[in-house]
Amino acid sequence: MGIDIDPGVAALGNPRLIERIVAEMDGGAIPFERFMELALYEPEYGYYRRRGRIGKEGDFVTSPSIHPMFGWAVAGWCRWVWQNLGEPAEFAIIEPGAGQGQLAAAILDWAEGRSDGFRDAVRYIAIEPNAPGDDGRIEWTTPPISAVEAGVVVANELFDAFPVRLFEASPRGSVEIYVRWDGQRFEEVRGGITAIDDAPADGRFEVNQYAYPAMSSLCGLVERGAVLVFDYGYPQEELWADWRRNGTLMAFYRHTAHEDPYIHVGEQDLTSHVNFSELATAAEEAGYAVSGPVRQSAFLASVGMPGLVEAARADMAEYFARRRAAEQLMDPGGLGRINVLGARRGFDGKLPGFEEEAE
Ligand SMILES: C[S@@+](CC[C@H](N)C(=O)[O-])C[C@H]1O[C@@H](n2cnc3c(N)ncnc32)[C@H](O)[C@@H]1O
Repeated sequence: MGIDIDPGVAALGNPRLIERIVAEMDGGAIPFERFMELALYEPEYGYYRRRGRIGKEGDFVTSPSIHPMFGWAVAGWCRWVWQNLGEPAEFAIIEPGAGQGQLAAAILDWAEGRSDGFRDAVRYIAIEPNAPGDDGRIEWTTPPISAVEAGVVVANELFDAFPVRLFEASPRGSVEIYVRWDGQRFEEVRGGITAIDDAPADGRFEVNQYAYPAMSSLCGLVERGAVLVFDYGYPQEELWADWRRNGTLMAFYRHTAHEDPYIHVGEQDLTSHVNFSELATAAEEAGYAVSGPVRQSAFLASVGMPGLVEAARADMAEYFARRRAAEQLMDPGGLGRINVLGARRGFDGKLPGFEEEAE
């Protein structure tokens, strides 16, 4: 005999989170940006409030979750900056959006492995307001944090996790997308018209209004040093190119990418590509000399990742692990197409890794 086994709103994601979002809508509509913010960061049930979202067992992989080699490359880059600053006795590595600390652990292990002045100088500060890690070598903190004299700010896939405003181009201007609850599911409704400089004339696009101010404040965290950003994105003309009809908003659920933000609510990642022109402008306005963006594949090749693979030849298991990891980290259709932006302030020199410009 059939009985009623319909899961109700649980079929759309975390029912407690959905209840909170619907309560906030209060019978009306909220901007898509607020929907995305609640889905990812609602204080109790938001996607990033729980550990274990990233990596093989989670919904998507990031470079630090592939192999410590990514962190070793970043560690070598930070040490180069430290040397070019005259090897100061105190050198901070500040990582906003550090997640559970995989990149931090690889960098600190690398520094310990080198046993020189760099290891003694490094202080690692991880800014993670959601589900921080617990490595005792790291200072886990939340904003605001004070600026340091010398150091590097490094961010991996931070900006692409910020909530975005969603727009649809129309002959009258850009129409903002709002979200309402129809009693059974979330649905989109069209809101007011906004004038946006250089906005696409057709299709959908996103505006990440947190990226520019966040980059400006990150640039203020080190008096002398560098900023290194890894993120999916493009310069503005490419991000808002006419042929891109559907924007870049994507959802990731158990390693499957799709385009529906209104299912698996609170149980899937939502992300959109970053406007690298804005990041570069924010850094330049803060007095930094900017390099890139270049593709991660070119950056890692240039700083010497192939050498890390070859160095493991004597240990076949490790050699194949590194070779597989390097292929993934430099895959032009995957992590390798991440863009890398470097910026320096208070010292001279050509930043390593930026010899080749992104195509
Ligand atoms: C896509 S995950 C990347 C995590 C890690 N960097 C990695 O590569 O594995 C984005 C991270 O940014 C964090 N985050 C989001 N907004 C933030 C903010 N305003 N300040 C610092 N971290 C933030 C999230 O909690 C999450 O841990």
